[in-house]
Amino acid sequence: MTPRRLPEEFLLGCATAAHQVEGGIDNDWSRWVADHPEAISGGGDAVIAIDHYNRYREDLEQLGAMHHNAHRFSVEWARVEPEPGTFDQQALAHYADVVRTCRRNRMEPVVTLQHFTLPVWLSEAGGFAATDAPIRFARYAAACVEALGDMVTWWVTINEPTVVAVLGHLEGLWPPGERSLRRTLAALRGLLRMHAAAAQAITTISNHHGRRAQVSIAHHERRLVPRNPASPVDRAVAKVPDFLFNRWFLRSCIEGRVLGPVGHGEVVPGLAGSLTYLGLNHYTSEAVSLDLGAPGMLFARHEAVPGLPLSSAGWAIDAGALRRALTDLSEECGLPILITENGVADDHDELRPAYLRDHLDAVADAIDAGIDVRGYLYWTAWDNFEWAEGYTKRFGLFSVDRETQERMAKPSAALFAEICRTREVPAAT
Ligand code: FCB
Repeated sequence: MTPRRLPEEFLLGCATAAHQVEGGIDNDWSRWVADHPEAISGGGDAVIAIDHYNRYREDLEQLGAMHHNAHRFSVEWARVEPEPGTFDQQALAHYADVVRTCRRNRMEPVVTLQHFTLPVWLSEAGGFAATDAPIRFARYAAACVEALGDMVTWWVTINEPTVVAVLGHLEGLWPPGERSLRRTLAALRGLLRMHAAAAQAITTISNHHGRRAQVSIAHHERRLVPRNPASPVDRAVAKVPDFLFNRWFLRSCIEGRVLGPVGHGEVVPGLAGSLTYLGLNHYTSEAVSLDLGAPGMLFARHEAVPGLPLSSAGWAIDAGALRRALTDLSEECGLPILITENGVADDHDELRPAYLRDHLDAVADAIDAGIDVRGYLYWTAWDNFEWAEGYTKRFGLFSVDRETQERMAKPSAALFAEICRTREVPAAT
């Protein structure tokens, strides 16, 4: 097998999120962790995290030196707007410098406005379902685009809206810890309106800056396959969560309406045409079968697809699923795709080299088949605070000594650097 070549202009780099790396943030997540330490595996918190807020210059220089030509990070809403309507100019100046540092190190910035966390004042007022969440989010987006928009093309409004609604409002594992289908649906409707409002703000203000912004959510696609493909019951049980989790938000964006069963087809101003590309977060696939004991999960049991190797997080490693997702989503949405996250939890960096090769090979394959894939952002640069998993799941290309904050490149960081330098994907395993 000869190596596959990725296009010259293809974006290659890493993705991060403020709360997971920065430290020093007061938001709904930091309050939740302080109040529910038992909700976090291993009991960690993000009070200091990996101190990236203070170390971003050296951190980004290191990624640039490893030939990354793109970097995704998120702006922390709670820093930028600590009180409703009060925008912190120092926080905005910080993020403007993060963007400049990316550019100085020859990395295209990909900027996320909301990556799971909320300012405390908004979560206390109802979070995503608060009536004024869309207008508040649009104002915050406008402040960010005023500050950064002359230097940024690629925007992500909301990271994984469906995931944040389900984990926080249906499964109760994340703040605000609810287990309510009614609240989940309200959060989903709010997230859709928030995205539409922010997308309008980004496009309008970028135009004033003379830039054509690229706007998307980061859509989490977890392919759900019937555990027994020959079983009509498993097939039927897989269909509903597959639509709700993998398609509902996207199709609503494309049609510009709150589709059922979450809404009644109400038109949302600014929603149709709000996606100019598709940000895709892809990690794994899952097998689904009937579970009469799980009404809250729509009678579906989710497990790793039998027969596939597992990551340290217990997620099936399935590069073929990424290839199929690229095909299906490109057909479904007709948009260019930027892979905004793909990665593996791997305690000893044993699985990661093959994971990277196989997944990038799947991407090269999709490009050869004519699918418009613009880039691949590995999750993540540094081992970090993995939400309810604390520090127990290690996705990073670098490990971090949390006493000294020293960053240490794992072997796969060198492999990825070589791929970024040569734009060649070594033969798949
Ligand atoms: C994604 C999240 C990201 C990270 C990875 C492992 O769903 O967007 O913040 O936690 O999973």
